[in-house]
Amino acid sequence: MEIKKAVLPVAGMGTRFLPATKVIPKEMLTIVDRPTIQFIVEEIVASGIKEIVFVTSVGKSAIENHFDYSYELETFLAQKGKTDLLREVRNISRLIDVVAVRQKEPLGLGHAVMVTEKVVGDNAFVVALGDDLVWAEVPCVYQMIKVFNEYQESVIAVQRVPEKETHKYGIVEGEEVAPGVFRIDKLIEKPKPGTTTSTLAIIGRYCLRPEIFPCLHRTIPGVGGEIQLTDALNALQKERGMYAYEFSGNRYDAGDKFGYLQANVHFGLEHAEIGGKFREFLKEVVKGMGS
Ligand code: G1P
Repeated sequence: MEIKKAVLPVAGMGTRFLPATKVIPKEMLTIVDRPTIQFIVEEIVASGIKEIVFVTSVGKSAIENHFDYSYELETFLAQKGKTDLLREVRNISRLIDVVAVRQKEPLGLGHAVMVTEKVVGDNAFVVALGDDLVWAEVPCVYQMIKVFNEYQESVIAVQRVPEKETHKYGIVEGEEVAPGVFRIDKLIEKPKPGTTTSTLAIIGRYCLRPEIFPCLHRTIPGVGGEIQLTDALNALQKERGMYAYEFSGNRYDAGDKFGYLQANVHFGLEHAEIGGKFREFLKEVVKGMGS
């Protein structure tokens, strides 16, 4: 089974970033000069996938527009001779083929994936969460697809987190069967302290087999009264097995104020145009803090 589609749930309200997200979708908040969602899309495209399914809700049209052709803007940039910017803007609209599906009620991540069933069909697919930004030499999704292709079972990205933070994540328990690859025995969404010894946390990248859909249909609301993807994954794991992959790369939680700032600093330092200047500035700031 080959992976050709990616589902990007972008229907969330973004309450952690209010008031910034009152009118602007959180996925459109920028890291230096690109909206966070563009980083995710670029990672997916760099992993060989062009068909993107956005799961949207009211007020999220800016995301679809961002990846659409903008006649007015392109004409304006062409007239002004701003060829570099024109190329950049054109590339965005040429990156992907977009389908948007509405999540009509905020019933959780599992529900967001479930509403894509007709569009995804009987195919394996990627789910990528917009809050998780991954900087990696080899795109995280590409790393995972390699594992999926080898095992032909669903693969979930994981990263080790400090024990005191496991309650913020879905946690997997399992046995390492190859370097960085774990055969999963159990998945627990946001475990209460002391209920697991595992520190392998689910990061928002999943390669899923289509058999996840019947599992989602059978999933009853779990943590937070929401239909949890993790609960459906548990059912799928029991049915046919599943793997976790400890990817290499840095992950930032761009849905959290601190993680968002960290991502801005990291990508600011990496930025071709301003990286050098920014590094000097940070040095000055650190020096100033020492005095
Ligand atoms: C979701 C998943 C959770 C995962 C996390 C990664 O939780 O339900 O299993 O660990 O994303 O970012 P959320 O952060 O939406 O509460």
